[in-house]
Amino acid sequence: MLNMLWPIGAHTETDGELWLGGCAVSELAKTFGTPLYVFDEATLRTRARTYQEALRRHYPASAQAAYASKAYLCLAIAQLFEEEGLDLDVVSSGELHVALQAGFPAERIHFHGNNKSPAELALALDAGIGRIVVDNFYELETLAGMVAARADRPVSVWLRLSPGVQAHTHAHIQTGQVDTKFGFDIKSGDAERAIVAAMQAPGLLLVGLHAHIGSQIYEAEDLAVATARLIEFAAQMRDRHGFVLQELSPGGGWGVPMTESDPAAPIEPYIAMLCEAVAATCRAAELALPHLVLEPGRSLVAPSAVALYTVGARKEIPGVRTYVSVDGGMADNIRPALYGAQYAALHIANSQLQGTERELHSARGTQHEIVTIAGKFCESGDILIRDVKLPRLAPGDLLAIPMAGAYTLAMSSNYNLARRPAVVLVNQGEARLIQRREAFDDLLARDLPLHRGTPRAAGAKATFRKYQALGNDYIVLDPEQWPEPPTPEQIRRICDRHAGVGSDGILWGPIERGAPFGVRLFNPDGGEFEKSGNGLRIFARYLWDQRLPAGPDFDIDTPGGRVTAHVLDAAGSRIAMDMGRLSFDSPKIGLAGSKREVVEEDVEVDGRQVRVTTVTIGNPHCVIFSDGQSSDVADAFAKSSAELAQRVGPKLEYLPLYPNRTNVQFAQVIDRHTLRIEIWERGAGYTLASGTSSCAAAGAAIRTGRCASPVTVQMPGGTMLVEVDADWAARLTGTVDFVCGGELGSSLLRDS
Ligand code: LLP
Repeated sequence: MLNMLWPIGAHTETDGELWLGGCAVSELAKTFGTPLYVFDEATLRTRARTYQEALRRHYPASAQAAYASKAYLCLAIAQLFEEEGLDLDVVSSGELHVALQAGFPAERIHFHGNNKSPAELALALDAGIGRIVVDNFYELETLAGMVAARADRPVSVWLRLSPGVQAHTHAHIQTGQVDTKFGFDIKSGDAERAIVAAMQAPGLLLVGLHAHIGSQIYEAEDLAVATARLIEFAAQMRDRHGFVLQELSPGGGWGVPMTESDPAAPIEPYIAMLCEAVAATCRAAELALPHLVLEPGRSLVAPSAVALYTVGARKEIPGVRTYVSVDGGMADNIRPALYGAQYAALHIANSQLQGTERELHSARGTQHEIVTIAGKFCESGDILIRDVKLPRLAPGDLLAIPMAGAYTLAMSSNYNLARRPAVVLVNQGEARLIQRREAFDDLLARDLPLHRGTPRAAGAKATFRKYQALGNDYIVLDPEQWPEPPTPEQIRRICDRHAGVGSDGILWGPIERGAPFGVRLFNPDGGEFEKSGNGLRIFARYLWDQRLPAGPDFDIDTPGGRVTAHVLDAAGSRIAMDMGRLSFDSPKIGLAGSKREVVEEDVEVDGRQVRVTTVTIGNPHCVIFSDGQSSDVADAFAKSSAELAQRVGPKLEYLPLYPNRTNVQFAQVIDRHTLRIEIWERGAGYTLASGTSSCAAAGAAIRTGRCASPVTVQMPGGTMLVEVDADWAARLTGTVDFVCGGELGSSLLRDS
């Protein structure tokens, strides 16, 4: 077993492998890439239960722990703590949004923050969240005004007070002292004025008081003293103004050890002392025990996660220092740079090494040296650990940093346009991706280029809207303006990139103005087709923009069958589409020959053997993986898969195996959850992105054991996430952007 810094059950084997949640970390690194954040489910749940049980054991009235989600929030973490019965504390509309998207019950959410905007307060009121923690007079007035205007219900609030207690911690994370931006100051009389104002405000129900004196606190005494001050103040307010303290929240702040030399920080004794202080102070002040709410952040999540990095460059400055750089750093963990935070590290030797190299490596294992672990970012301050004693590190080794769950990813940035790491949740030998690594396209998701073609509307009435979705663009023509579908001649003119608006096709719909929404799809040549991933995601976005669907999930009827759209954000900029089932059955695909599955079968193309896997998702696909091929195909892949797609794609399209021709993908496996593909599209040729192609390639990669769902499919035109369930149902997720809209000029509408 490892020391107190590691998640429950973490251990190393004699071969040097580190196991977390029953998973070998070198396997995790291979599957998901590094930097990787590994959260251990058992530790998360155990710590949540420790809080709840300790409160039950030591507090003689009702009590509750609320996770301070600023420490790290994503859908899965919100859902896990919800299952454990915790409340949730948020400090921004962003955290609130993620919590609500996770299905966290609004009434169990508390909203903190020293400068909530009126828009954020409105969002909280609309959502019906449990408690708003009012921080200052501006907020008190704003909120009172808003609630008076709404008059739909009383809104329960706490006041955040500043008790004037200086916690023993880093100055940046002290918050309870007099000189702080947070809360109403008790000493100056502000807190009393706030109590009076809140009690008088119609529509506000002042039910509790809150303080949070800082973070990474080791002295339970500090927390007890601050809490006692709140209670004593509440007793004075009872005597002077008839205030009743129903709820009391002494915040969070309990610390965790960061290195072996720190003392352990068990949760239960801290809670026991705090509960005792509350009970004793209430007794002395003759106050009934309030409902007690603790708000742990760090102490719940820090010990639950380990950050994994891959070792790269080394720089020795004789007599000065040896730097060993890893593939992450201040962009995913800014705490050492910002607070001088110290971390420990464990080295995991590169298990890929064979034979003598491996022996050398294990010999190395016994030689220790003092090194400084540097990040990869362009700052001298980007140091993760200064002067740590480790076995001699070699490129390709893994470095595991424990206590990495709190305020790391939560404070991460895209500095140097780093892509934020993937996050996995491990438990009993299973690893689940809970946040995918950012893709290059995520780095562009918010950008608008300087030059984009805006077609000039020319005095005609027929309007259109054009959208683009990861490399494909489509024009939507609405039957409201176009009672009849456009004619092939009109389609050719409108789609023409020189003389018309330019697009990959036309969507004519919705045929009815309620779900299921009917649509017809047209190619630029005027011909009709059945189904498309990106075209239908665009159509869903159009419907969303027109406010036609009743909610974010709705059905669309296509000539190729029904699909279901899921709009993932209010703007409709991310849309998922249930695409139907993948099938490998030859009759379903429309293959020549006997009924069978063509999976990893060699076919002859131009006298060469090419190994193919065939699949359909409403249209036929032929997938060629770069691995497992003969050496000349493998070489061509290595040289340029785009060139390969353009040269060999057309030949595969007309393979005798496919009497109806096929779409073709050339796929390279990046890791277990990432594929890169080049596409040759049936009838259209080389294309930058395609939804059905992403589904087909991901399905073939899963079918052949190369990948596991979810698969991020990178294409030259964009990146899509494909999820495939046990029944081969595929869901496609990616962005959709509005490009332009307007009226079509009369020259485009001519029909001859
Ligand atoms: N409640 C309130 C109102 C808070 O402001 C905080 C943290 C907590 C609860 C949770 O505190 P915890 O149990 O996590 O200590 N970025 C810094 C820590 C900032 C803490 C901010 N407030 C760091 O990396 O150390």
